[in-house]
This record gives sequence, structure tokens and C-alpha cells, in this order.
Amino acid sequence: MEGRFNLRRKQSFKVSCDYSCLEVKGVCYQPPGTQQNLLNKVSFSLKEKSLGLIFGQSGSGKTTLLQLLAGLSKPTSGSINIQKYGNDRKPNESPQPLVPEKVGIVFQFPERYFLADTVLEEVTFGWPRQSGSIQLKEKLAWGLHSAINSVGLTGISLDENPHALSGGYKRRLALAIQLVQVPDLLILDEPLAGLDWKARADVVKLLKHLKKELTLLIVSHDLKELSSIVDCSWRMEMGGVLKEEALPV
Ligand SMILES: Nc1ncnc2c1ncn2[C@@H]1O[C@H](COP(=O)(O)OP(=O)(O)O)[C@@H](O)[C@H]1O
Ligand SMILES: [Mg+2]
Repeated sequence: MEGRFNLRRKQSFKVSCDYSCLEVKGVCYQPPGTQQNLLNKVSFSLKEKSLGLIFGQSGSGKTTLLQLLAGLSKPTSGSINIQKYGNDRKPNESPQPLVPEKVGIVFQFPERYFLADTVLEEVTFGWPRQSGSIQLKEKLAWGLHSAINSVGLTGISLDENPHALSGGYKRRLALAIQLVQVPDLLILDEPLAGLDWKARADVVKLLKHLKKELTLLIVSHDLKELSSIVDCSWRMEMGGVLKEEALPV
């Protein structure tokens, strides 16, 4: 009995020490039909369940990089992979390409793109309509339940008009929509932009909470407000050059 207990302890120890990293290596991007390189050998790595922040001047290439990570366009060269590590901190299998289905992206001012008349329709927009995929629907329903909970939207009715929600609640709804399908990586472009101070503080608290469950990569100018939850940070310089840079304390 004791032997079995020890075995189980060893196994759980091994599992808890394995981890994965998003690894971006030498990514360049030149939009089709142009001569201009918008990203120039971008490399960085972000450990799972941590929060990375990219900041830098407007027009430097931050949004372009997020679009590549979300699979919305393909790098001209370089790689975007998930690498697993063992408890000896050595790679324990070959790197796997980041799957776009496992990436959620919340664009800047996501509430501008709300389409539906109710919160429920907004969250379930794009779900399979045909019958026959009951397991998928069940999975999505569970995802919806947990997404609504994790962004603190439980206090509002699913019949409410998304356009009538406060700024902070609209932002929470946009986050919930991305969380339904449980992404491994959640990308946010300027998550605090356009919110009042109270909603900004609420979103920071929410991001801190989400970091326990998934990996977050954020583009923002709001360095001070986010600094307490940031694990690593980079500056994007004009011309799409990314450099690691700690936030000012
Ligand atoms: N499809 C495209 N074709 C050509 N230039 C583009 C395209 N998309 C963005 N750009 C240009 O790339 C640069 C970086 O843009 P962007 O990634 O939006 O910067 P940031 O998010 O840092 O403000 C800008 O100069 C922008 O005008
Ligand atoms: Mg941008």
C-alpha cells in the first residue's frame, strides 16, 4: 500500500514539474505584395501560466506580431512553437507548432465588434447550429458556464443587450467569448484602453486571476497599472525589432 502511495507521489511530482513554453524564433513578416519587413527576427519565449507584456511606439509592429501568433497571417520566416520541458529543464519532445485553435485573441476595443442583441447570442455566435454534435455543444455549454464565472459576469442576465452593458462589463464579455473554448494562450491588444479607472482596476484583477489557468500575452501602454502582474516584458522598436526590457519600478 505504502509502495503504491509513493509511486503516486512520484508521478504527481513529475507532472507538476513538466512545463511548456511558447517559443518564437527569428520571426520575420513581410505582407504579401510589399517590400517592407514589418517584423525583423522577432524571438522570445513565454512560460505557460505567465503573463508577458509587449510595449512600444505606435506603428512598431505589436499588433502585427499578435496577428501572426493568432494564426491570422503566416510568418515569412521563423517559427512559432510550443516546447515542452521535463523536470530537468531540458526539452522532452520535439517542438510542436502553436495551433491557432488553442489561441484566443481579444482585439483592441472588442466591444465595437459585438453583433448580437443578447449576451447569450453574442457568446454563442459561431457555435455549430446543426444537430448531431451534442457532445461538442455540451462541452461548449460547460465552457460558457466557466467563462462567465471566471470573468465575473454572473451578475448580469444572458438576455441583456451587450451594447447596454458598462464599459468594464463589455470588456469582460469580450474576454468570456474567447474563454469558452479554453485557449492555452490568450492574447490581448490594449485590454485597458478606453476604460474608466474602476473598470481598468477590475480588468487587471481579472487578468491576474486568469493567469492561474492560462498563458497571457498583452500589448499595452499601461505599464504602471499592469506591472504587478507582469512576469516578463519586451519593447518593440520601430521596424519590428523586439528586445527584452524590464518595466520601470
Ligand atoms: N498589411 C499591411 N501592409 C503594409 N503595412 C502594414 C500592414 N499592416 C500594418 N502595416 C504597417 O505596419 C506597421 C506596424 O503596424 P502595427 O503592427 O499595427 O503597429 P502597432 O500595433 O505597434 O501600433 C505600421 O507602420 C503599419 O502601418
Ligand atoms: Mg496596435
